[in-house]
Amino acid sequence: MPQSAPPDILSEAFAADPYPAYRVLREEYPLLWHEATGSYLVSRYEDVQRAFREPVFTTENYVWQLEPVHGRTIVQLSGREHAVRRALLAPAFRGRTLEEKFLPVIERNAGELIEGILRTGSGTADLVDAFATRFPINVIVDMLGLDKADHPRFHAWYTAIVGFFSNLSQDPEVAAAGLRTRDELAAYMIPVIRERRAAPGDDLLSVLCEAEIDGTRMSDEEIKAFVSLLFAAGGETTDKAVSGVLRHLLEHPAQLAAVREDRTLIGPALAETLRRTPPVQMIMREAAADVTLSGGTVPAGSTVNCLIGAANRDPERFTDPDVFDLHRPDLTASSAFSAAADHLAFALGRHFCVGALLAKAEVETAVSMLLDALPGLALQDGRTPREEGVFVRGLNTLPVRFTP
Ligand code: HEM
Repeated sequence: MPQSAPPDILSEAFAADPYPAYRVLREEYPLLWHEATGSYLVSRYEDVQRAFREPVFTTENYVWQLEPVHGRTIVQLSGREHAVRRALLAPAFRGRTLEEKFLPVIERNAGELIEGILRTGSGTADLVDAFATRFPINVIVDMLGLDKADHPRFHAWYTAIVGFFSNLSQDPEVAAAGLRTRDELAAYMIPVIRERRAAPGDDLLSVLCEAEIDGTRMSDEEIKAFVSLLFAAGGETTDKAVSGVLRHLLEHPAQLAAVREDRTLIGPALAETLRRTPPVQMIMREAAADVTLSGGTVPAGSTVNCLIGAANRDPERFTDPDVFDLHRPDLTASSAFSAAADHLAFALGRHFCVGALLAKAEVETAVSMLLDALPGLALQDGRTPREEGVFVRGLNTLPVRFTP
């Protein structure tokens, strides 16, 4: 018999700190029907891993969750259609294209934001406002070859898109803002895509226009939908990951010192941050048939809410799961950015995050450049960073001081 009341993922207590509730869910309610979101909550590592890996759990949920805002995108596709789209897109986000074409873009954007921080001369900064919320979206805008002067518009659009995605309680205003964004972004993007088709350049948008597999190319509408998805999938996620790594390192001075000495430890620090505080805390799936998980049977046709934040702290999988330890032996850093990852922050299986290596390159560059540029970097006294958000979760401020 359960000892505790079933946690409500829409409650204020949960928003303030979901981790105690995740423990109750894992231990006492491993499969729990949540009326308000019309979904079954799944919280144990082994169950969430299965939901990401087994094809019986489809991504049909994105038809109602995302398509209304983005249009039809890769994340809701399956089978061959998904595989072809993925093969068209993936090369742009790894290997030589990433290193030769986009690493300089990443470095330039990190450098510009750091200059802004130094220019104030105050020796203090909020690294969320001054850096994390701006950096990934600036990088994407620049990679796509879009006009940087429009950055405030892109920022507003991506906030509205993420709001729509996180709208578990179905707030009508949030839904309306998401739908407005769809129209505004389409009106902006479609003419730009047509221009690039006519006169391709060296940017990601041109790469997407020209990419071809087995005679398949992406249509204007598909590219627009993918750009829209990118703002949400590659923007706020990486924003939360950057501030999350910095926060964990600043709270653990010995690990920060180790990273200062050996910058190859930023990757393991990011992997451990993604495990302990995954930016995407929940991902939905739909069960195409009855499936029996550790806590009971999910009926065919129902929606499952996979609680990544709970699974990544399952003590059955990770020893002392609440502890931040970039050296932890049960998290393999070398596979943390591939579909063989131990943590579930990028999901697993066919929809494993296509931007994982881009996110890693962004965080490695940003953290290393910030450590070099801001000597004596430390948290401001008496300020404990707080996390916010239920679906996508991370810091909303990170006040630091440094020697100017
Ligand atoms: C630390 C930062 C990031 C996190 C935590 C993250 C998380 C995720 C997760 C959980 C999924 C799986 C969705 C699902 O299976 O339903 C995903 C997929 C995806 N991500 Fe990321 N992501 C990050 C960065 C990025 C970046 C920088 C990009 C830019 C290219 C990106 C683009 C995508 C795309 C296009 C998909 C869909 C892949 C598919 O359906 O095959 N993500 N991401």
